[in-house]
Amino acid sequence: MDVRHIAIIMDGNGRWAQAKGLPRVKGHEAGAQNVRRIMKAAKQAGVKFLTLYAFSVENWNRPKLEVEALMRLLKHFLSEYENEFHESKIRLRIMGRKSDLPEKILKEVERVEEATAAYSDYTLIIALSYGGRVELVNAAKKLAERVESGELKSSEIDESTFVSELYLPDVPDPDLIIRTSGEFRVSNFLLWQCAYSEFYITPICWPDFDENELEKALESFASRDRRFGGLKNIRGSVTSDKK
Ligand code: FPP
Repeated sequence: MDVRHIAIIMDGNGRWAQAKGLPRVKGHEAGAQNVRRIMKAAKQAGVKFLTLYAFSVENWNRPKLEVEALMRLLKHFLSEYENEFHESKIRLRIMGRKSDLPEKILKEVERVEEATAAYSDYTLIIALSYGGRVELVNAAKKLAERVESGELKSSEIDESTFVSELYLPDVPDPDLIIRTSGEFRVSNFLLWQCAYSEFYITPICWPDFDENELEKALESFASRDRRFGGLKNIRGSVTSDKK
């Protein structure tokens, strides 16, 4: 069974650092290094889209120094790996409330997004200032505006019109959502898109989630019987209501 899209909640950087007697920021640094390892491993495994939850709308409430460190790491990540994006033909996309981002970061991410926009084999999506509820409210607002302007009738609103107002309407839903460091929560991640995703939760903290751990997640996914609410495991030939 092919995995086209993997999404990861990269949790446990803080705990990883604490367990080693290091400041939390060191955990984020190690986490950022791991992004590169998993970005390559997923590509090698034939994945087409990799979405990483790097910063949620709620994360702005963390101590200022930690927020600043995360933004710095992101900027550093972009400048350090831009060459690699080109060499390996990786498209970078950002999903989230971009207007929250400091101007310098926003400029940089938009520049790299534009520079890599033509690559179509593999896309790295970074969820930044992302919140699933914000994304849904935003989509509802945009649809309401289209109805108000007369461009759309409310009776025409269906799942595909709704999806057209999400951040990345052209990206398929994740097949597999991985969460590291053992919590059984969705944490406001891809609330619409996760409807039929398979979940894989591992106690390993994100900085230690290496190629072998990814392989284990893929093996677990391969053993799942995806029915999309129907009786068969092939999308498009489901035979009952979604449940
Ligand atoms: C959760 O760990 C992780 C985050 C809030 C940030 C994730 C960020 C990175 C991996 C680095 C930057 C990303 C890129 C793309 C360069 P936590 O701090 O909540 O861990 P804890 O639950 O153990 O405290």
